[in-house]
Amino acid sequence: MLDPSADEIRDWGNSVIQLMADYLGNLRDRKVYRHMSSREIRDQLDPTVPTKGIDLNGLLKVFRETVIPFSRQNAHPRMFGYVQSPGTPLAAFADLLASTLNANLTVWRSAPAPVELERLTIDWIRQILGFNAEAGGLFVSGGSMANLAAIAAARQAKDYSSDRLRIYASSETHFSVAKAAALLGIGRENVRHVAVDEHLRMRADDLVAKITGDLEEGYVPFCVVANAGTVNTGAVDPLAEIRDVADRFQLWMHVDGSYGAFAVLAKSARGLFAGIERADSIALDPHKWLYLPVDVGCVIYRAPQIARAAFAHEAEYTRIIGEEADEAFAFWDYGPELSRRFRALKIWMLLKGVGLHSLGEAIESNLACARYLESMVRASDDFEMVAPVDLSIFCFRHVPVQLRNESAEAIDAFNERLLIALQRDGSSYLSNAALGGRFALRGCVLNYRTTLRDMEILLDDLRRVARSL
Ligand SMILES: Cc1ncc(COP(=O)(O)O)c(C=O)c1O
Repeated sequence: MLDPSADEIRDWGNSVIQLMADYLGNLRDRKVYRHMSSREIRDQLDPTVPTKGIDLNGLLKVFRETVIPFSRQNAHPRMFGYVQSPGTPLAAFADLLASTLNANLTVWRSAPAPVELERLTIDWIRQILGFNAEAGGLFVSGGSMANLAAIAAARQAKDYSSDRLRIYASSETHFSVAKAAALLGIGRENVRHVAVDEHLRMRADDLVAKITGDLEEGYVPFCVVANAGTVNTGAVDPLAEIRDVADRFQLWMHVDGSYGAFAVLAKSARGLFAGIERADSIALDPHKWLYLPVDVGCVIYRAPQIARAAFAHEAEYTRIIGEEADEAFAFWDYGPELSRRFRALKIWMLLKGVGLHSLGEAIESNLACARYLESMVRASDDFEMVAPVDLSIFCFRHVPVQLRNESAEAIDAFNERLLIALQRDGSSYLSNAALGGRFALRGCVLNYRTTLRDMEILLDDLRRVARSL
């Protein structure tokens, strides 16, 4: 098993690809989720520490009979929970090939062609966003790590020795920003929550008020984080306006585009992102709206040399000897990780194999699905929208006729029970959000398989499940 022959590898490959094709080919016939307990799954797994190995068929049997059925089917067209990509078959093959080569993208000399592919694909993403030619960055494990890296660079740019640093972000910002502030020693309490308008976008006037107030009290404002698609509702903050405020107070502007930024590829959404190219850094997640399998996030810096000052570490065992500048390049100088997998291969294969045109169309179709859901909800007398739809996230609640005169608490409690019942039913999957202190059903269309018909089925599922409560 450790070192199969080329013929054995061919046989294994056939069995694995057969399983993959069966699984993806019959996805719509599956439930997105089935109710299960941890105990039930553990009971299916042989707990003895394996001293002798078994053959591949035995391993695939467990994958087929236990791992697949006891998983949430993230590639299903009605998986609307969280911000979950479906993955693509092409990228699954890319991951297989990346692990086959097992390149370790630390420095250029460790993986010359893979490093060039990463630099190339990062540059394509830079161009997609309209950033300056000198901008650069790298792939990381996800949006959380990208936010952490960018905020570390932001601190470097300002005054890394101060213990009175302050960072600004709207109250709708993903928790990874506060977590980064805590990990970097800035402190969660020094992330100031800026108020939002009725579209849940950051209010620039409140940003100015908070910065001015902090300056008067002797704090050191250093960074503003703007959202290009909030996790709750998909709101895009007014990026150009925030850039102007950042300039006025000499703040680093970081954009968290983990969920939404790739929607610049869709014509109908592009206008929302005006000014994104003026940010000092941006976090993106190809494992969200480029549909790729986890894990691949991305951080891009307008001036990579500042990130270098934050991350470079000189040690004899990492000293690069006898190389020209391009070949002396080290990713560890620009981010927190040393050993790094060959994430760029799946990005390169996707962009080159599918092309921006088709990707833009798929994103456009996701936006259309969310807008269609909104129009059906607004036309109905038993559902109501809770937030506007800016991108592909929709927040709403079910208010059947018999609940119409009930209190807000009773309607919230009913929707909470409905969400759990819907998830257990398994035909469609939503998650939840808290908006203005109220409970909301929340969905996010992030799958090129999802159709307008799936949005109709979602509402039918909710009505059917609600009747059984
Ligand atoms: C807006 C936003 N930022 C950051 C993250 C964190 O991304 P990751 O899960 O890749 O760390 C998410 C995840 O959903 C997100 O929606």
